[in-house]
Amino acid sequence: MKRLAPSILSADFSALAADVNKIETAGAHLIHVDVMDGHFVPNITIGSLVMKSLIGRTSMPFDVHLMISDPDKYINEFVTQQTEFITVHAEACIHLHRTLQQIRSLGVKAGVALNPATSLSRIEYIFEDADLILIMSVNPGFGGQKFINSAVRKVEELARIRTAGGYNFEIEIDGGIGTSNIKTVTEAGVDIAVAGSAVFGAESVENRVRELISLME
Ligand code: DX5
Ligand code: ZN
Repeated sequence: MKRLAPSILSADFSALAADVNKIETAGAHLIHVDVMDGHFVPNITIGSLVMKSLIGRTSMPFDVHLMISDPDKYINEFVTQQTEFITVHAEACIHLHRTLQQIRSLGVKAGVALNPATSLSRIEYIFEDADLILIMSVNPGFGGQKFINSAVRKVEELARIRTAGGYNFEIEIDGGIGTSNIKTVTEAGVDIAVAGSAVFGAESVENRVRELISLME
């Protein structure tokens, strides 16, 4: 099943529960949580405290995107009953295989993210150790950036690798996704699409969520 994961990075943090409620009523599937440390990426956002404040306020699972250096140190903090995925950046992990095993051992699905300039060959040997591969279609750090077109080819290539190798990971895309390109990336092989500004910047958040979901079908 194709799923939409709105990123709360573009939500109104002073009214977070209300914004989350809007996307949930409209049928969004996951909450994408963008964690940035001002070190791996040039911006600081939110940590596990904010994510945990949503437990019980929504039944949508958490899709945690760690844009932080040395993620091994912080993985535990993001493990909750509601956490479906914890995704780390391949570029931030010295022992990527070990990190993915650590995430799985905590009962959470393990994801690997790749920056736009990072090749798929970098993760060739961990395809069977990942439950999710996240293709970044902007350079991580900020919401509202322009979609980088080469991400479509990367998704197509990844989908081919998955079929040929019989792998089970899901394919996610993140950055610059909106009504103009969500259909294209879904057809290329995306299972989970992240959208921040396209959702929370819309006049009606609910209508935009419904529109994006219908474009994925
Ligand atoms: C980028 C983040 C994205 C971003 C998406 O560093 O990982 O999740 O917030 O926002 P939009 O959809 O506005 O590009
Ligand atoms: Zn993200």
